[in-house]
Amino acid sequence: MKVTIPLVDLKAQYYCIRDEIDKAVSDVLNSGNFVMDRYVRQFEEDFSAFNGSKYAVSLANGTDALVIALKALGIGKGDEVLTSPFTFFATAEAIVRAGARPVFVDIDPTTYNIDASKIEDRISDNTKAIIPVHIFGNPADMAGIMEIAEKYKLHVIEDACQAIGAKYKGKRVGTIGDAGCFSFFPSKNLGCYGDGGMLVTNREEIAVVAKALRSHGGGEMGLMAYNLINGYEERGYSDKYYNYMVGYNSRLDEIQAAILDVKLKYLERWNSLRREKAYYYNERLSGYPLRTPKEEEDAEAVYHIYTLEHSSRDMIVEYLKSRNIDSRVYYPVPLHLQKGLEYLGYRDGDLKMVEKVVKTTFSIPLFPELKEEDQAYIIDTIIDSIS
Ligand SMILES: Cc1ncc(COP(=O)(O)O)c(C=O)c1O
Repeated sequence: MKVTIPLVDLKAQYYCIRDEIDKAVSDVLNSGNFVMDRYVRQFEEDFSAFNGSKYAVSLANGTDALVIALKALGIGKGDEVLTSPFTFFATAEAIVRAGARPVFVDIDPTTYNIDASKIEDRISDNTKAIIPVHIFGNPADMAGIMEIAEKYKLHVIEDACQAIGAKYKGKRVGTIGDAGCFSFFPSKNLGCYGDGGMLVTNREEIAVVAKALRSHGGGEMGLMAYNLINGYEERGYSDKYYNYMVGYNSRLDEIQAAILDVKLKYLERWNSLRREKAYYYNERLSGYPLRTPKEEEDAEAVYHIYTLEHSSRDMIVEYLKSRNIDSRVYYPVPLHLQKGLEYLGYRDGDLKMVEKVVKTTFSIPLFPELKEEDQAYIIDTIIDSIS
């Protein structure tokens, strides 16, 4: 019997760059500095150069990046934030943690991203921001979203947690709105060996407040943020144990930063391998009654996850399992129907597109190291299952 083909193979990636990773980890251990030191500074510099953003603020995870972006934009109690119901729970959770209320807009069933043409209907006097999610690494319709945001003076925070390096009209996602949030969870297309996240922005005040918030609102950054928020010229004394705002402990540690800095060099290559393999799936599966992924015009997806659609999804997933192929349903429950958000008052039937999509989509293995023969076996098995 064939060994299982996993959805993602993190060991295979590690073995390809083992010497460099081991050296980076050992360098940090030998430095004796583990929090907020030179590897974090270096990675932030390299990550903002990669993205083409002025500032990059590393954080403990992608969820915190979303919470901190909302806080830095002054969004909280009484505010509403529009977002997609077809995403990982953390997107809406971050809105709630910032003190605001998530309002869901149905998705475009061809890209699975927020449908820009349905946003205006959901705007109220309390709406302060839109969080588009570039789901599965596929850029959302940022032109449509930015047009509405400008018209109604709304902030835009891009949830690019699944889309590191993806482009929209030549720009990296995360750099189009006011702020962009990334996750370095191990299975992400740029993943560390634990948790990690990043907020990018071209606006200095967002970067300053985010840097203050990640470290308990204290020290030099805390004072800078305090003066900036209150419009003071220069006031107060800065020291580690002088705190100017209530923040978080949300720092990326030195070991993860050093690991990520090694991996960042390979990201373009890994992303193009993902694209090649995704296009190969598209090509071989065309002509069968399956829906393959679609990109927006002028978008360059990074296929963090490769997702197909078929009316007999559960049967295909079972068949793949019986043939030792991993697959997963991302996501079985749309966020507006999650029990944890019951208090928002949504009902079955409120968002028809997403409710249909969660019943028919499933994701199959796609990662840069996926072997040709394994991909061929996956394709043959899927075709077998529907023939
Ligand atoms: C779309 C999306 N948003 C937010 C997050 C949260 O990121 P993290 O797990 O790093 O907190 C994730 C990843 O898990 C995600 O996929």
